[in-house]
Amino acid sequence: MPTPLRDKHLRCINYLRLSVTDRCNLRCSYCMPAEGLPIFKRDELLTRQEIMTIARLAVHSGIRKIRVTGGEPLIRPDIVELLGELGALPDLERLVLTTNGLRLDTLAAQVKKAGVSGANISIDSLNPGLYKEITRGGDLQRCLAGIEAALAVGLRTKLNVVVMAGVNDHEAPDFVEFARKYPVAVRFIEYMPTRGKEVGPSLTVPTDTLLKRLSDGVELTPIERPGGLSMAGPARNFHIPDGAGTVGVISPVSCHFCQDCNRIRITATGLARGCLFHESGLDLKPWLRDGDEVGLARALRQVVMDKPEGHKLDEDGGADQVPMSRLGG
Ligand code: 5AD
Ligand code: SF4
Repeated sequence: MPTPLRDKHLRCINYLRLSVTDRCNLRCSYCMPAEGLPIFKRDELLTRQEIMTIARLAVHSGIRKIRVTGGEPLIRPDIVELLGELGALPDLERLVLTTNGLRLDTLAAQVKKAGVSGANISIDSLNPGLYKEITRGGDLQRCLAGIEAALAVGLRTKLNVVVMAGVNDHEAPDFVEFARKYPVAVRFIEYMPTRGKEVGPSLTVPTDTLLKRLSDGVELTPIERPGGLSMAGPARNFHIPDGAGTVGVISPVSCHFCQDCNRIRITATGLARGCLFHESGLDLKPWLRDGDEVGLARALRQVVMDKPEGHKLDEDGGADQVPMSRLGG
């Protein structure tokens, strides 16, 4: 067993977020402009073999959890094969997926069989019209069918709800009801101004404000996190009375969790990044295309070592443009 990877701030890095495509079948308003983002050419995207080379080396170096992200990972044509190969990596403890769920109704069984244990599904409204508006064209029924399919095949299912002031924050109680009925972990995520600095009133609803509002109508009992943040992730979760599921909050803006951050990211074109909000990234393609695995392993360690200490989203009212569909959220 390798020694755990540590960065220069002594954080243990065991979690890799792997974006496998920059393409998406939605255009969520908080993620990209209405016209979409320019996409990379196909030959700029990593091949399955290249992704596996990185994943194998990462796991060999101490990565224990991989989250496959996009864009929308389930529209990558060879996604089932790719998940199967990732799922077969001997020392990988957890393989999970972040998806908008639209293709899960047909793919959930194959995804589960490939070795994926859980899916985070984005769903920002339970109202068909508003869902369509936020996602710019998405069909809520298909997303719900995807959630149902994920639950039916036994994927641990979390729902990501990006809360936006005056847009969908009034629906929080409806999502609590959803978590009462279905065994899902609903997570309310603070909107991050990743599309450039905000003009006008902020869309971010601090999670403490949201929790205060919610606890007027429902008793929220905090769930302990025995393992700390390292594997559990940054959500604060709560039981609700008679709930089949749970609710939780993720506060990247008001209470960032940089000091416990255990993750690095690889984009679909092979850029390794230590932090979502820092421009710096190391292009792994030259080593991949030269077949230089020693150099590649060294480069990965370098990205871990140089991981920035934190971001300042809350202090300067917004990041420079962060193309989430390229970075995988
Ligand atoms: N603010 C908060 N969360 C975001 N995501 C994408 N863009 C943003 C943003 N601006 C998250 C959503 C989505 C995942 C892919 O990334 O939770 O479910
Ligand atoms: Fe696609 Fe996810 Fe971005 Fe929505 S948030 S446009 S589903 S990548």
